[in-house]
Amino acid sequence: MITESQINETLKSIFSEIQFPSEPNGLYEPLRYMIQIGGKRVRPGLCLTSYSLFQDSFNEGITSPATALEVFHSFTLMHDDIMDRSPLRRGVDTVWKKWDENTAILSGDVMLIDAYKRIAKAPACVLDKVTQSFSKMGAEVCEGQQYDMEFESQDYVTMEQYLQMIGLKTAVLIACSAKIGAIIGGASESQCQALYDYGYQLGLAFQVADDYLDAFGDEKVFGKPIGGDILNCKKSWLTVRALEKIDNKERFLEAFNSQAETPEQKAEKIKKVKDMYIELGIDADAKKEIEMFTEKSLEAAANAGFNEEQIEVLRKFTVKLVGRAK
Ligand code: IPE
Ligand code: IPE
Ligand code: MG
Ligand code: MG
Ligand code: MG
Repeated sequence: MITESQINETLKSIFSEIQFPSEPNGLYEPLRYMIQIGGKRVRPGLCLTSYSLFQDSFNEGITSPATALEVFHSFTLMHDDIMDRSPLRRGVDTVWKKWDENTAILSGDVMLIDAYKRIAKAPACVLDKVTQSFSKMGAEVCEGQQYDMEFESQDYVTMEQYLQMIGLKTAVLIACSAKIGAIIGGASESQCQALYDYGYQLGLAFQVADDYLDAFGDEKVFGKPIGGDILNCKKSWLTVRALEKIDNKERFLEAFNSQAETPEQKAEKIKKVKDMYIELGIDADAKKEIEMFTEKSLEAAANAGFNEEQIEVLRKFTVKLVGRAK
């Protein structure tokens, strides 16, 4: 089995050596920028980890599709930052802020195409399966993003609707990353499905943690502006749970839907909403929810007939991911 440090080394060399075309520079420079500013590399990391359960060495047939998952993810972030009007990503200016919106649209588009080129390097015997899984996931992410945006102007979103939305916008990519690693690694159909389920539950935990950190994280570590979801009236896990719990819903919605223009008004709105979250114990609830989805992900792995060593690898990956502050 490939070790964790071999996986980390491989990830490091993939992203320090990654190449994009050079001209026109205005199109490709933002791609290089997005990749160079870093990020946790969760999706390629999971893809390689999943593959490592079945194989003893890496080759381009796996490293290229793993790279595609990070390129695809970074493409979604480039567009997401326009949609969410977010000025900061991975601790630095977002592409639409540093350049402009048109640049972020077109560089994002070509990034998606770049991802497909890398997916196409999967071994011929599994290429069809890998491409199908990747394309299905890509459309689902767009569906999730659409729900996410529509929910901004909807006062009430049920927990069921919320979980469906984050399942689509976030969990399917993490699930697909685990599955593609398994497919290329030569896993059985049921093992591929088990790793998909593991990734899906992990993805739900991951997005609830992202929602939590958006309100309660440390901007310097998180690398994104704290309170952005509140200012955008996002129906985050915290909001949906708060509206389930609170008796005086009008009071919450009045603060949550208030317009904030100046920096002072923005800070005041964020504080008001966060105070209500704390008053309702939503921060502690979120932590429990993250734990619950984490356990479910490990159950999915445990029920798949993997051996102790394989389960331990997945458990380690989960612990590293869910204990995150960024
Ligand atoms: C951010 O993903 C978008 C979400 C799905 C929450 P990450 O938290 O993996 O972002 P990077 O790649 O590490 O910057
Ligand atoms: C992440 O949603 C999902 C996608 C980018 C597809 P967010 O909007 O919560 O991601 P961040 O917080 O900007 O990274
Ligand atoms: Mg978003
Ligand atoms: Mg966003
Ligand atoms: Mg977020």
